[in-house]
Amino acid sequence: MAETLAQVIDKQEALDAASDVLQPAVTDLFKAGGEAGQSVKNFLHGTWLGHPLHPVLTDIPIGAWTTAIALDAMEAVSGREEFGSAADAAIAVGLVGALGAAATGITDWSDTNGRGRKVGLVHGLLNVGAATLYATSLVMRRGKARRVGVGLSMLGYLVSGASAYLGGHLVFEEKIGVDHTAGQQFPNEYVPVMADAELQENQLTRAKYGDVPILLVRRGGQIHALAETCSHLGGPLAEGELVGDSVRCPWHGSRFSLRDGTVIDGPSTHPQPCLETRIREGQIEVRLRREKLSAWDEIEGM
Ligand code: FES
Repeated sequence: MAETLAQVIDKQEALDAASDVLQPAVTDLFKAGGEAGQSVKNFLHGTWLGHPLHPVLTDIPIGAWTTAIALDAMEAVSGREEFGSAADAAIAVGLVGALGAAATGITDWSDTNGRGRKVGLVHGLLNVGAATLYATSLVMRRGKARRVGVGLSMLGYLVSGASAYLGGHLVFEEKIGVDHTAGQQFPNEYVPVMADAELQENQLTRAKYGDVPILLVRRGGQIHALAETCSHLGGPLAEGELVGDSVRCPWHGSRFSLRDGTVIDGPSTHPQPCLETRIREGQIEVRLRREKLSAWDEIEGM
């Protein structure tokens, strides 16, 4: 069903037109804030968490609004008003959580393309609709139209459920928020990937280990190596920009340290796999960093 729905959404060209206006507006807002704006953007993406922040916050409205439904049912069965008051409080908590989910969601969405961007926009619009229904419900519950308010919150629950369904599609089908280097195999022992003479100083260069692209950079007498596929959405880091001891992805601007692959700027929240390098017999050799190896060894030994 999600695939069919996504295909229908993908055919709506008006969504692209709306995104073409909204996305630059969000991007410009963060840019206008300079370094502070970038820090806020990083925070909202979840680069500090090593995981997207958005799905963490979406649990708040989903959980709170599910609780409200249960409490409304308990009020209807028992006739006790305390359950109704608790349902109102749960709806208010959900609305606060929805603000955080909206801020993180629109930030992540501002760095998407293609079908994911369209589905993401519909996902966001449904969430706005659900939050509006819940806010109206809260006002009516506290006034003289409590029953209508309860009905509106049930409608809001259905809308948020449809939105959550699309949210799942964005992760599992469009691969938004997942690590795009996951599954790539890097050598555990040193293997040659390029002739030493071919690597120029301060040039982002793509080498290969089997089918896996590797980014090589010679800088200040050192050779750095990272996975070349950007962990955000798979952008080619070798076509990006060298910024001091870091590389900026050409697609959405994620920036990674060449020293250890850590994320300096989002939207990526996953570090780049980092490789050790050495020169043997005129060849640059690479292998997965030892710290990474021991982490894998531990997992395999479990
Ligand atoms: S693919 Fe999006 S920042 Fe690299």
